[in-house]
Amino acid sequence: MKNILGFILLTLTGLFFTNCQEEQKNEVHYPVVKEEDRKDDHSYSNFHKVYTKHLKLELDVNFDNNSIYGVARHEMVNKGVDTIIFDVKNLEIQKVTLGKNKEKSTDFIVGEYDSILGSPLMVKASKNETHVNIYYKTTEKSEAIDWLNPEQTSGKKLPFMFTQGQAILTRSWIPIQDSPSLRITYSADVKVPKEFLPIMSATNPTEKNRESTYHFEMKQAIPCYLIALAVGDLEYHAYSDTTGVYAEKELIKEATYEFEDLPKMISAAEKLYGKYQWEKYDVVILPYSFPFGGMENPRLTFANPTLIAGDRSLVSVIAHELAHSWSGNLVTNRSWDDFWLNEGFTVYFENRIMEELYGKEVADILTQIEFQELQKTLETIDQEDSKLKLNLINRNPDDGMTDVAYIKGASFLRTLEQKVGRPNMDDFLRNYFREHAFKTISTEEFEAYLTKKLLKPNGLKFNTKEWLYSPGLPKNCVIVQSERLQKMENLADKFVSGKNIFRKPILKRQDYTTQEWLTFIRRLPVPMDAKKMKVLDEKLNFKGCGNSEIMAEWYVLAINSTYIDVRPDMQKFLKKVGRRKYLMPIYNALAKSPNTYDMVWARTIFEKYQSNYHSISRNTIAEILTTK
Ligand code: BES
Ligand code: ZN
Repeated sequence: MKNILGFILLTLTGLFFTNCQEEQKNEVHYPVVKEEDRKDDHSYSNFHKVYTKHLKLELDVNFDNNSIYGVARHEMVNKGVDTIIFDVKNLEIQKVTLGKNKEKSTDFIVGEYDSILGSPLMVKASKNETHVNIYYKTTEKSEAIDWLNPEQTSGKKLPFMFTQGQAILTRSWIPIQDSPSLRITYSADVKVPKEFLPIMSATNPTEKNRESTYHFEMKQAIPCYLIALAVGDLEYHAYSDTTGVYAEKELIKEATYEFEDLPKMISAAEKLYGKYQWEKYDVVILPYSFPFGGMENPRLTFANPTLIAGDRSLVSVIAHELAHSWSGNLVTNRSWDDFWLNEGFTVYFENRIMEELYGKEVADILTQIEFQELQKTLETIDQEDSKLKLNLINRNPDDGMTDVAYIKGASFLRTLEQKVGRPNMDDFLRNYFREHAFKTISTEEFEAYLTKKLLKPNGLKFNTKEWLYSPGLPKNCVIVQSERLQKMENLADKFVSGKNIFRKPILKRQDYTTQEWLTFIRRLPVPMDAKKMKVLDEKLNFKGCGNSEIMAEWYVLAINSTYIDVRPDMQKFLKKVGRRKYLMPIYNALAKSPNTYDMVWARTIFEKYQSNYHSISRNTIAEILTTK
């Protein structure tokens, strides 16, 4: 942290505090957060000395100027400090008061801005102060929030907004102690214009009310990256009393069909690893600019409309977000260096849910597809970043969000399972979730727990340290292979060698699943003969098929093969879809292409459509287009 902080140590006296915004701008010497006051590389807050137990939010969501006017009322435990430090990023802090019923203004200062971490907000208080109220407004630069204009929605009539907190963006919409190692409960009163329904990672309304003010409660303690809000013209379809789906009117029917197995998924998950702890589980379909496939906000998964493939072939993403209700939300990574504990466990768990519901063959297909992706990632990634335990000091935690945490992490658990047998593994995991429920855990703590509870009792030796702390893939990694995918590779080889694969019986895209076609496309050589690609498009219409996984894969191959017929469809795709997983490889291929014109084209397209992307995707693509 030293270079980021690089400040002179100054004592926090009244001298450096101000409650006037103007004066702050003239302040040259920022007060610093002392090294010993930091317990998380990605947070400025002194949460080990004073920390929030409960947060009360009052939010007024304003679509006229795309901002939230907010009050964050922190109910804290203070172990005796007179400076309370929060994280903020690009927020306008209007005033800070102390006290529960009788509020009194106090001095505060917003420290030096760091482009990754934002700034410390230092609040002067007495050593027994437990109530801090921060009055603020979000700004255009509040990266967590995506404000969408009506054209970016399915309804096309009203705007929409949503927040994305993970990893360290919550501080850009709420002044907060932004570390995954701290858990809080929260409540919120949210005011929206009357045409809108707000929903949060909390108790939710299912229809609009007359007052346009809504109350939310999250009674279970959560890390603050899971606080989330979406506001739109939303409707709700219930599958049961405890589960359902929110979407705009135009998508609700398709969404309902696509995720119909949700109740079954919950039963399967509970059977595997214990009771679902969050009472309700709903999914909201956000607009296409949502930068992820899904985000596991508790009680309310945020999902990308690209998951609606029409054939339920992408529901494993929902299984994944549901699995996070145990791995991640119930048992949380202590720091972003331990991110694999959230995602590796979740990918493993997701696959177990898929196996329960759809059988081993489907589960194995998904595993093999993911593994192909890990292998590709390992070819390009730095050695240091291929370890499960990361060291992200002075870096953006997003740098650690690679297939390594997800798929090397899951492969580790799969390899362990093979070693100890499934019944032992399942007992171990059930106990792990029970004993660590509503707690955080580090990689080192997990390592000790694993040795004590699984390896020692079974008298087993295992290369745990190599898996956790060494780069690359250990030799004993379990490899899963599926016969059906092998057949697809053979089919691709046949086509490449010039055989006619479209005869007897006539081959249609519907004959095979999304994952089978992905394998087919990945098997084709690069560059691929453009004439052959055209044949495939004529027969199977990959370029305009509407399945985002297939289209994204196809566009990358097309760029690498100078097959330009896909450009109009690809342009439409880049205009509409903001999911980073798809944008990244497409823009990357364009940026690396030997045809200089491709980079020019990519920049033009990005210039045109970047306002359709969430800041998370926008920043990633901007980097690709400037550094290549
Ligand atoms: N929690 C992640 C999304 C995330 C990770 C957001 C890191 C911000 C920082 C979510 O659960 C996820 O992994 N989504 C994947 C889905 C998947 C099945 C691997 C996605 O969006 O692609
Ligand atoms: Zn995940």
